[in-house]
Amino acid sequence: MAKVAFIGLGVMGFPMAGHLKQKGGHDVTVYNRTAAKAEDWAKKFGGKTGATPAEAAKDADFVFTCVGNDDDLRSVTLGETGVLSGMKPGAILIDNTTASADVARELAAAATEKNIGFIDAPVSGGQAGAENGVLTVMCGGDEATFNKAKPVIDAFARMVGLMGPVGSGQLTKMMNQICIAGIVQGLAESIHFGKRAGLDIEKVVEVISKGAAGSWQMEARHKTMNEGKYDFGFAVDWMRKDLGIVLEEARNNGAKLPLTALVDQFYGDVQDMGGNRWDTSSLLARLERK
Ligand SMILES: NC(=O)c1ccc[n+]([C@@H]2O[C@H](COP(=O)([O-])OP(=O)(O)OC[C@H]3O[C@@H](n4cnc5c(N)ncnc54)[C@H](OP(=O)(O)O)[C@@H]3O)[C@@H](O)[C@H]2O)c1
Repeated sequence: MAKVAFIGLGVMGFPMAGHLKQKGGHDVTVYNRTAAKAEDWAKKFGGKTGATPAEAAKDADFVFTCVGNDDDLRSVTLGETGVLSGMKPGAILIDNTTASADVARELAAAATEKNIGFIDAPVSGGQAGAENGVLTVMCGGDEATFNKAKPVIDAFARMVGLMGPVGSGQLTKMMNQICIAGIVQGLAESIHFGKRAGLDIEKVVEVISKGAAGSWQMEARHKTMNEGKYDFGFAVDWMRKDLGIVLEEARNNGAKLPLTALVDQFYGDVQDMGGNRWDTSSLLARLERK
């Protein structure tokens, strides 16, 4: 059993912190900007709350963060009330936010100055993966730090991999999002075409999902796409944030991502349609708009 702090109890963080308490059996203290959510969490799982990130992180062996973007992450880690000012030497900061590789390197440098370990550890698997404790976690950091953190991360994960030095977890998540952008647009076009051709989409998917066109997106999303339901899942606003990070990184490393850049613009159209919080599969709604 370890002393653990968890900062950021959103769609993902709330259940992830719950697994650290219940499945991992750890002594968990949480912090959330909107304090009511932290109180709800403590009521549900029986852990403690801290008034600031630094206070929650005090005495912890492992501190997890799962907030929105780079700036949110800086605001809960750096400065007087940030976790790094409360953490003890020898402790490890594990960041589950989907953020840039640059901010991961920035935080690792700030942590090293205080003799604190750092792992960037973005996740994949969505809300259901977090609730069921079966996330895929892509880590960047040194091997010794990773080996200490992995058994703790295991409480909410089915797959935890060390991809390379600090930043490599975020770069791996970028590859993940590049794949998803192309796959979802392809799936949206296929379903759009099938409907126009008068085919029974359920029947078609039952067959082609078992062949070379099959994908997680096809299995998990074809039904709701066919029904025009998008009010759930991984929000378009988050995807645009992720693709923005990807395209910025590609500008720096010279990678050419024409399809990703195009799909990012398509998601801009979905936002214009009012779909900021719609699931990413709403690319089909864009094709079907009048
Ligand atoms: N949802 C998914 O399916 C999914 C899948 C994979 C990865 N991710 C990534 O995981 C991260 C969290 O996603 P989520 O869906 O859990 O988001 P969310 O439900 O919007 O929750 C965001 C959390 O961050 C906190 N936060 C945001 N800005 C903050 C700030 N400046 N200072 C302090 N706290 C702040 C929020 O606090 P309040 O409660 O006070 O707003 C909330 O606890 C994101 O980077 C996202 O891209 C999400």
